[in-house]
Amino acid sequence: MSFEEGKFQEVLSEFAATPEFIREVAANFRQDLQIGLRDPKSSSMRMLKSYVGLPTGKETGEYLALDFGGTNVRVLRIKLEGEGRYEITKRVGEPLVVPGEYDYICKNSTVDQMFGFLARLIDEAIDGDHETKFYLGHTFSFPSSQDDLNNAKLIIWTKEFATPGVEGKVVNDLLLDALKKRGIENVVPVAVINDTVAVLLSAAYKQSDVYTGSIYATGHNTCYLEGSIHDPKGFGVGGMILNLECGNFMKLTPNRFDVELDQKSEKPGEQRFEKMVSGRYMGELFSMAVAELLGEKKCDFSAIDMSGIVSDESPQLDKASEIIAEKVGRKLELADVARIRELDAAIIIRSARLVTASYVGIVWQRAGNGKIQKQHVAVDGSVYEKMPLVKENINRALSELLGEDAANVDTILDNGGSGLGAAIAAAMAVE
Ligand code: GLC
Repeated sequence: MSFEEGKFQEVLSEFAATPEFIREVAANFRQDLQIGLRDPKSSSMRMLKSYVGLPTGKETGEYLALDFGGTNVRVLRIKLEGEGRYEITKRVGEPLVVPGEYDYICKNSTVDQMFGFLARLIDEAIDGDHETKFYLGHTFSFPSSQDDLNNAKLIIWTKEFATPGVEGKVVNDLLLDALKKRGIENVVPVAVINDTVAVLLSAAYKQSDVYTGSIYATGHNTCYLEGSIHDPKGFGVGGMILNLECGNFMKLTPNRFDVELDQKSEKPGEQRFEKMVSGRYMGELFSMAVAELLGEKKCDFSAIDMSGIVSDESPQLDKASEIIAEKVGRKLELADVARIRELDAAIIIRSARLVTASYVGIVWQRAGNGKIQKQHVAVDGSVYEKMPLVKENINRALSELLGEDAANVDTILDNGGSGLGAAIAAAMAVE
């Protein structure tokens, strides 16, 4: 064995998420929500108004959906047929970064490059048709302040995006400019929403009892329907959806790896919760802990590597061993591979348990002093969908925190909700 047991146990314990810890996180999350409802500035979460409630499910028509906020940009043409039915009639998508070729999200990129790229994809999605009128719903997955459904001003980049000149700007203005430059005047943006809001709209279009939407992917964030807020400029039913921006939730104690990761990130002090749980950062936390154990300067595991290591259940852990060897530059003995795999699992499990605690904070808040009603928390994102150990640990933590009431609450995958939700928002805005 190349590292001491004592050292290993110490590092492992940094990532423990005990029942007491997650209960405290859930309670603090609920409290921060309550504080934010009275005064968003006093909460660690931004609690942003979306100016949209739930759809009725009767929305119809063909819309363009621009989904921008992760590593890939997608533009879809979606025909809504009502009663939860829809058809995707065109799908275009490209990454924002191709290593060695281009990078539209780094410090050296420009607004023109970024929005020009979006306009080009939109042009492709409309097959170069510059005549027919298209209404566009835009999923823009960053903290943005809104006064109505169609104007969203980027407050701050998250997820390590760094393109200068976008923070503080109304994103649809930038988009309209870029469209104009390409000679596209027939695409009319009518709604901008966060991806969590898109997931909630999409899930609620298809089924009842959904009030919470969440993304558990590169980034992490959640929104919910707040029944007490109504605004004449809003659309939809049931109140208003609040985009919590809970990636910024801060009322929990980070471990020393979390602290170090935050300090060397693009925006230290911001998005502390997201940096503990989301796919963009999980690999970094794991890399830091493994590097420390092995006395290496640096290793470079991604969340996908973590998934590969942890899914190897074979006795000799050949696959896990291979992935680790590739990253640390040498083959480790089986006992060490097994320990690294255990550490990997602990980081994933902590993430799933913390995310669940935040969901429970919302469930408690919505229930008030009453009974917890039957409900589904709609979730989209690669970590939720694909990372081993996540779903089972969400379920376990739900039971721990909710006891018998856990029978009324589950999480459901809303795959591709970011695109569909944008089309639904557009329909709500123009109908
Ligand atoms: C980041 C963004 C947030 C988004 C989430 C998931 O947390 O700030 O707006 O919803 O990532 O993409």
